[in-house]
Amino acid sequence: MTPEHLTNFSKMCEEAIGIANKIDLPEFSFDKIAICGVGGSGSVGDLAADLLRYDSAMEVVVVKSYRLPAHIDENTLVFCVSYSGNTEETLRAFAEAHKRNCKIISVTSGGKLAEWSKKLNLPVILIPSGYQPRDAVPYMFLPILICLQEFGLKNFEEDLQESVDVTKKIELKPLDELAEKIKNSDVAIYGSEEFAGVIRRFKNEFNENAKITVKYDAFPELNHNEINGYERNGKQTSVILLRDKDEGDEIKVRIETTKEIFKDYIHSVHEIWPVGSSKLAKIVSYVYMASYLTAKIAELVGINRERVVFVDRLKVELKNKLNSVGKLEKNLF
Ligand code: F6R
Repeated sequence: MTPEHLTNFSKMCEEAIGIANKIDLPEFSFDKIAICGVGGSGSVGDLAADLLRYDSAMEVVVVKSYRLPAHIDENTLVFCVSYSGNTEETLRAFAEAHKRNCKIISVTSGGKLAEWSKKLNLPVILIPSGYQPRDAVPYMFLPILICLQEFGLKNFEEDLQESVDVTKKIELKPLDELAEKIKNSDVAIYGSEEFAGVIRRFKNEFNENAKITVKYDAFPELNHNEINGYERNGKQTSVILLRDKDEGDEIKVRIETTKEIFKDYIHSVHEIWPVGSSKLAKIVSYVYMASYLTAKIAELVGINRERVVFVDRLKVELKNKLNSVGKLEKNLF
């Protein structure tokens, strides 16, 4: 059965675009962008970096920890993304960005992030609550693009429309078959560096939905180190290659050659191809497929994909030990 967030995926994308279009943005000028967030919310930075890295001169810094890099200053547009709005790493990055006079826009469904942004009179994109953070990626990712469009970085209109359309065209049968084939094996996810963020998103979805650890890496770098690991222990591993019709000859030949070599060392090789022609549509289709595939595996092996026992337990224990958010709040106000 297709999970609810996926049956509503294209509607979610349309709604996300609608929410962002209503935001009254300040007139920010900036020379670089930082996107802060962890976990499901952190995927947003990875995906934005994939989208813009080779296509825009604007630097995109992805921050997945407490501290901001030294060069993040008052000329940086900082997106603080936390679905719950209560994640300590992102709140700490928010507080530091505020201290450095960065231009801040928060994306959240509520929590402290919404509360602090309002108190400090900073723009906040409020998205619907009630989802698992990782399932709400369209609500967090697409509004950031609308903001960047408003600030004149790039016009995403056509690509956004294509992204909404492609999610209706994704063929699910090959993903059902793949889920059946790999449901009990070790998994590795590899693809071109152009999709490094998507590769990581696949890995995260395997972790959080299918509850397994996976290997992940990008071509060409993995050809220089990771593949050597298979000399000793690859026989249980199913490799998923994230392909792209526009990957370019160097990457294409590398992947094809690696595939041939893999045959002697690993359990099986599989490929997933994105749908669409724009990079954005490809990214969005990959996000959909990663979610679908890993939810399907969870269903086949009979686990509850929504529960994230470790994450929840860790957050409670850290709160008790550190009370970081309480301390930050005290310093901010
Ligand atoms: C759970 C999930 C997690 C959270 C992460 C950060 O579904 O996706 O990876 O995203 O623990 O929490 P938020 O997104 O609320 O900042």
